[in-house]
Amino acid sequence: MVEQRILETPRLRLRPYEPSDAGPLQRLAGSRAVAEGTLLIPHPYSLADAVEWIASRPEALENGNLVYAITLQSSSELVGAIGLTLRPQHGKGELGYWIGEPFWGRGFATEAAGALISYGFEAFALNRLFAIHFARNPASGRVLEKNGMRHEGSLRQDIRKWDEYVDVEVYGILRSEWEGRKLKAEG
Ligand SMILES: CC(C)(COP(=O)(O)OP(=O)(O)OC[C@H]1O[C@@H](n2cnc3c(N)ncnc32)[C@H](O)[C@@H]1OP(=O)(O)O)[C@@H](O)C(=O)NCCC(=O)NCCS
Repeated sequence: MVEQRILETPRLRLRPYEPSDAGPLQRLAGSRAVAEGTLLIPHPYSLADAVEWIASRPEALENGNLVYAITLQSSSELVGAIGLTLRPQHGKGELGYWIGEPFWGRGFATEAAGALISYGFEAFALNRLFAIHFARNPASGRVLEKNGMRHEGSLRQDIRKWDEYVDVEVYGILRSEWEGRKLKAEG
């Protein structure tokens, strides 16, 4: 059983998705700009898609795929999603996320990613965390860099997105690097 602890940051509360999130999820994830930057969100994205996806979370969790609703501490509003896919055999995990368009540029992805990276290293016996983003989406690379992840390489035309082969950038952080950053932050 994978434990999905609720995570709090100064501005955000990361908690499991609930059935009542379906409406706001459909509105935020339904934006073309969000679907364009992610691997798995279909476009168009219906309310039924959102309901079905939320209902599938408990089984996904059993398979090592933790997904959090990113919500605001101040208003409980839903702003996005962030997930960690565990690959215990290799002691590693993959991070993925999106933020709804009305909430871009306020540091929310950076804040949520920082919380999940810490939880990933603290709660699971991980040696490495990594993430990929489409090369045409440099904002996502900044989110990872700001959390101490290193650019490890580029994969040319690695993924087919909407009938186009797109280049992908790979970022990673090792446990030893994360521990070093933590010690530095603690002074
Ligand atoms: C990418 C995404 C997650 C960023 O979320 P966000 O909450 O706006 O991110 P933050 O505010 O924490 O940080 C964004 C950083 O990217 C920078 N940035 C924004 N647009 C940029 C661009 N075109 N080129 C380079 N950097 C850019 C911002 O300036 C900021 O960096 P800074 O703090 O050094 O100034 C969000 O735009 C999104 O969800 N997009 C659609 C889905 C997606 O791409 N998901 C990621 C899949 S890997």
